[in-house]
This record gives sequence, structure tokens and C-alpha cells, in this order.
Amino acid sequence: MKHCLKIFFIMGILFSGITSMHQSFSDAPAIQEEPYFLTPPPASSPNINTPSVYGCRPGRPFLYRIPCTGDRPIFFTAANLPDSLQLDAAGGVIHGEAPAERGEYSIKIAARNKSGEDQKSLKIVVGDDLALTPPMGWNHWYTYYHNVQDQLFRDAAVIMIESGMADFGYQYVNIDDCWMVKPGSNDPALGGEPLDGMGAIKPNKNFPDMAAMCDFIHSLGLKTGIYTSPGPRTCAGYQGSYQHEWMDAQRFAQWGFDFLKYDWCSYGNIAKDDSLQERQKPYRVMGEILKNLNRDIILNLCQYGMSEVWKWGGEVGGHCWRTTGDLGLEAGDRLPGFYHIGFSNAEHAGYARPGRWNDPDYILIGMVGNARSIQDPPRPTPLTPSEQYSYMSMWCLMAAPLFYSGDITHLDEFTLNVLCNAEVIEVDQDPLGIQGRMIRKTDDEFIMAKPMHDGSLAVGLFNISETERTIQAVWDQLELKGPHRVRNLWTQEDLGVFDQHYAADVRRRGVQLIRLWPK
Ligand code: GLA
Repeated sequence: MKHCLKIFFIMGILFSGITSMHQSFSDAPAIQEEPYFLTPPPASSPNINTPSVYGCRPGRPFLYRIPCTGDRPIFFTAANLPDSLQLDAAGGVIHGEAPAERGEYSIKIAARNKSGEDQKSLKIVVGDDLALTPPMGWNHWYTYYHNVQDQLFRDAAVIMIESGMADFGYQYVNIDDCWMVKPGSNDPALGGEPLDGMGAIKPNKNFPDMAAMCDFIHSLGLKTGIYTSPGPRTCAGYQGSYQHEWMDAQRFAQWGFDFLKYDWCSYGNIAKDDSLQERQKPYRVMGEILKNLNRDIILNLCQYGMSEVWKWGGEVGGHCWRTTGDLGLEAGDRLPGFYHIGFSNAEHAGYARPGRWNDPDYILIGMVGNARSIQDPPRPTPLTPSEQYSYMSMWCLMAAPLFYSGDITHLDEFTLNVLCNAEVIEVDQDPLGIQGRMIRKTDDEFIMAKPMHDGSLAVGLFNISETERTIQAVWDQLELKGPHRVRNLWTQEDLGVFDQHYAADVRRRGVQLIRLWPK
């Protein structure tokens, strides 16, 4: 990521963590903390960061950019690639058509540059399941709200590559609300006929050619997502998909979208009552439509956790579901709002698994808008650097979809340091797909632990008190026995072998994220 930072409007490290200028989603009093950098810069030699599994459906269009850090040019190879797929050796993009035959295809990826080589296995699982690891990307909502147009998403895709984010696994560039016609609007760009001649939803004039936009994003090896509501109107009052769901989904697939956020909004006026059946209905309809499309589209249920969606989101065709209300509107108290959203999401750990993820909403760090006053320009996050590392650590331990929703066009070095740590992201993307559990929680600290596929355990020691404190991970509480090798994932350093417990001094609101392997 180092080599690309020059293309940015570098906000520098100065603003990160400076909290006194405004209030956002935390109502907590401002505390200042100097930024500090935990993630070491990536090596110049290649490091392949792909999760070890990727799900797709038979015969559908296939596109996968291999996340890999290291100095470019990098030359990629992929052994045992099924015949229907090709690899672009310079870009590291696998494309073509998924094999027609269901099954598991194990390929061996290698990446080589002038400084060295790395290899990794990738299992392509051709079947019914998608999102075998939590989806990662960027969503416009918490920075741009209704101020969106085609060019922003093209720029976001370029930045996702140039910033290095894509080399860590970020791959979806997602449009949220406000891309469609706004019925009754006097704004010439937004008003007009909301449906096309076929009765499908139409973009507003800020999106002159959706198919061309998707093509552009795909040409970089990235994917793209769109948003609509099962109700007549979206949450921001734009055209929804009510009664033309099938036509709209066809259109999304024709344009080339790979992800759909389906937001309840005005469907509340359509549902007959609050019964489980009525709550499931619109999602069941869309889930069924997407299954029959000739395109893999991830379905994100956005209905704020109603009727315990974590229990049935997968059954109706969802791949991930918001478990709470909007993080950007969550009031903080002593603690910023993200902790409360995270604690609530943590309660549903037992329901997550590959292709079925609890979604606690986006990562709001760096330059972010104010969801309570969407006309305000984006400002530096009020979160301290320690809180930002804790935020990312919690989301990764909870196997949450990782969508950055700050201003991707104004990334700074500190924000990238939080978003782009390969060993931290590996926790989120672990193929076992277990959501970490809360092991212990007091007013001052909590511990979350996530079993990993190789028999290791990722553990977060979180300080939520007002001062630095020593936090202890005790093997008995973690159900571990005997000596374990301990590694600090943020700094990517081995800490030694410990027999029964490990203790760390953790900053105010900070975290130590470790991984333990039996010795
Ligand atoms: C709801 C959702 C948000 C966002 C807005 C758009 O509030 O929860 O994530 O999509 O709608 O209007």
C-alpha cells in the first residue's frame, strides 16, 4: 500500500483521532490520543492474501482478483485451473465461466516478482453457496448519502486498487440508496419516470449507463453492488422495487451487479402485520429470484434485525443480514456506538457460518459523514486510534462483512493501517467461518475468541476502561490446555510460548489481538 499513497489527497496522520471538533455517532466526551501505527508495511516480495475458499454457482460468470501485496509487477500462475477459467497473469485476475460441474476445484496460485515468490492454495467450491468468507468492500452511504453519481464508483474502484485495499481482499464497490429516480422530485437529475418501458427500475440521470459502469469496475477485476427496497420507496424516498422485483433483479444482473442490499424501508406499509411470515416474505421472494438468475449475486438483508433475522436469513436466500439499526445513528454513551452495535451482534454468534453472516454494519473511520445530518461534509472520525483498532478487531473476530464506508477518495495513512492488516483480515476470512464469542465481559474489559481452521485461536483483549490496564487471557477460560505459541496479529510479531495464561498491557479503549497455536 505504501507505494500507492502518493496518489491520494493525504490527510496525513494529523487528523486521525483528533476528536474535539465535532460530534458524530459517539456522544462521549472528546479524548485525544496521538495516532500510532501497528500494522507493519507489507514486504516488497509477494504475499498472497486470498482466503483459502471461494464459492460460486455452476456455469455462471466468474471473476476473482487474487489479493496479493508486494511490489508490482507481479507475475501470477494458477495450477489446476478448470478449463472454463483463465488467468490474467499480470493482473492476477481469474475470469471466465464457473465449471458446469459441481464440486471442489483446488488450484495452486503462485505470485512472483523481482524480490521473491509466494504460493497459496485456493479451493473453488462450485455449488449453491456464495460468500464462503465474509464479503469485503466499500459502500458509499456514510460519506456520500444522496450525493452520488457514476464517476464516484469508478473512482472508488480505481482507488481500491491503487490504495492497495484490493490486495488485502476488498473487492466490492457498492452503491447504496439514491441511484434511482425520486418520484415527485423537482430536481431535473432525480425526477422523471421511475420505470423503463419494460417496467423495471430506472437509474436517475446521475447514472447514465449502469452497464458501462459495471464493466469498468469489472475490468479492474473488482465486483460491484447495488441497493433497492422491497417497498414502493427506499428509506431516502427514491423508487423501490415493490411489484417489479423480478424485472429489477433481471436488470441488475444484465447491468452486471454482483451484490444486492435489500432494505426493508417502506415495506413496513405493505406488510400486513408483524408476523414472522410477513417479515420473511419480501426476502423470500428476492432470494428465490436471485437463485434463478444466470449471475452470482450476494444478497444482503437489511431489516435491522427484526424477527431475529439471524435465525432465518440464510433460509430465505440471504448471505448476510444486518443484525441492528444503523451504526451511524447509534448514540454512544461512555463508549462510542460501535461497541454497542458490536456487543449486540456478538449475541448471535451461533448463527453465523460460511455463506451466512451476521452483519453489524459498516466500518466508519477516516473521513466520515454525519448520518444525523447528511448535508454536513465528511469530517475526521471522532474515534481515537485505539478505538479504531478495537473496532476493526471486533469486526474481524465476529466474521463480519468488512465494508469501509468512510470517504475512500480521502484515505489517509492511518486509516489504511487499520483497514489493511493481512493477519487481522485473515481472522475475518478464516474458512471455518465461526463467529467469535464473548468469553468474558466486565465494565472495564472484554475478551472475544474465534476458533480458526488450523486449530489456532484468535483472541481479542479489549480495554473499555478509561485508563491503560493489564488484561489476562487465561487458558482455562479459553478452553485451552498446555503451552501455546502466541503472536500479536496487529504488529505481526511472535510473543513467545506461554503455559497457562498470557497478559498484556492494553491502552485505554485499545486492543491486543493475538493468535494462539498449540505448541
Ligand atoms: C437504511 C439502511 C442504511 C442505508 C439507508 C439508505 O437506513 O439501514 O444502511 O442503506 O437506509 O437510505
